[in-house]
Amino acid sequence: MKPRVLITGASGFVGYHLVEAALDAGMEVYAAVRASSNVSHLNHLQVNYVYPDFSRKEALIEMIKEHRFDYIIHGAGITKARSLDEYNKVNAGYTQNLAQAVSESGIPLKKFLFISSLAAVGPIAYDASWPVPDVITPSPVTSYGKSKLLAEEFLGAISNVPWVILRPTAVYGPRERDLFVLFKTFRRGLEPYMGRGAQWLSFVYVKDLADAAILALKAPVSGVAYNISDGNSYDRYALAAIIKQHLKLRTLRIHLPLPVIKIVAAISEKVSRGAPLLNKDKLNELTAANWNCNIDSIRRDLGYQPRYNLEKGMQETLDWYSANKWF
Ligand SMILES: NC(=O)c1ccc[n+]([C@@H]2O[C@H](COP(=O)([O-])OP(=O)(O)OC[C@H]3O[C@@H](n4cnc5c(N)ncnc54)[C@H](OP(=O)(O)O)[C@@H]3O)[C@@H](O)[C@H]2O)c1
Repeated sequence: MKPRVLITGASGFVGYHLVEAALDAGMEVYAAVRASSNVSHLNHLQVNYVYPDFSRKEALIEMIKEHRFDYIIHGAGITKARSLDEYNKVNAGYTQNLAQAVSESGIPLKKFLFISSLAAVGPIAYDASWPVPDVITPSPVTSYGKSKLLAEEFLGAISNVPWVILRPTAVYGPRERDLFVLFKTFRRGLEPYMGRGAQWLSFVYVKDLADAAILALKAPVSGVAYNISDGNSYDRYALAAIIKQHLKLRTLRIHLPLPVIKIVAAISEKVSRGAPLLNKDKLNELTAANWNCNIDSIRRDLGYQPRYNLEKGMQETLDWYSANKWF
C-alpha cells in the first residue's frame, strides 16, 4: 500500500509543489483545502480532497483516525494579516490543534512536518561572517515571524509526535504571486528599492523546498528545525539583474526614501480593509540587512542538495510565467 500523506495548504503556492513532489515520491496524497479554496490547478493531479476545520481539534482527530495518515505536511498558513492575534490564531493555534490531534488520535504517525519560516528566526547582522553562523536564539522582527516561532514552541511541547520543522527563506517559483508583482514592475521599466541600505538576501526554489520536505518525511530524524535556502548569498540587486538579463529589460533603479515608505505603510495600514500588502511590520522584514542562513544541518542530516541557484530557478520560473500567460 502507498504511504498516505496529508498536505495542508495544498491549494497554495508551496502546497501545489508539495503535492507534486509527494505524488512523484509514490505517495497517496490527501490535499487539505477549504470549500472556498481555488483547486482548479490541482484537478489534473491524482489527489483526495479533505476539508478539515483547524479550529476544531475533535474533528481533526476524527479525520486522522478515518484516514490513518503515515505523514502530515502542515503548510497551511497566512503570510498577511492585520494583527499578531490573527497570525497567532492561524499559524500557531491551528498548528497546535493539528499536532495535538495527532497526539490524541493514537495513530502512529511517522512524521509531522511543519513548514515554518526563516522569519521565525529573524535576520542577522549585515557583516556576519560567511558561511553565516547558525542562529541559536531566534529573534523574529515581524508578527508573522513571531507567530511561526510560537507554532514551533507549541510543537516542541508535544512529546509523542515525531515532528520536524523546515524554515524556508523567501520561496520563489511557478505560481508564486508576491515576487511576481515585483517582476511586473521591472517589466514596466521600474526597479524600486526601499531605502539605500545594503542588504544580503537568500532564496530557495520551490522545487528544492518540496524535495527537502520529502527527504524530511523519510529521514530518521525528529524534534529538529532546519533552515533552508539554496545555500547562496545574494546582494539586493541580484534578483533584478537576473530577471533583466533573462527578459532583456532596461529599468530605472529608484531608491525610495524610507521615511516616505513608512508614511505610506502607516496610511495603507489604516485604510485597507483586509491585510495590507505593506505595513510597518512588513517593513521590518523587507528592510532587514541580512537574510542569509546556515544550511549545514539540513545538508548533513537530510542529504539536502539544492539543485537550483537563483539564476537557474528564476529562468525556469520566468519561462513558466510566460508559457502560462501570466505576463
Ligand atoms: N512563500 C514563501 O516565500 C514562504 C517562505 C517561508 C515560509 N512559507 C510558508 O509556507 C506555507 C505556504 O505558503 P505559500 O507561499 O504557499 O502561501 P499561499 O499561497 O498563500 O498558501 C497558503 C495556503 O494556506 C491555506 N490557508 C490559509 N489560511 C487558512 C486557514 N485559515 N484554514 C485553512 N487553510 C488556510 C490557503 O488556503 P486557501 O487557498 O483556501 O486560501 C493556502 O492553501 C505557509 O505556511 C508560509 O508561512 C512561505
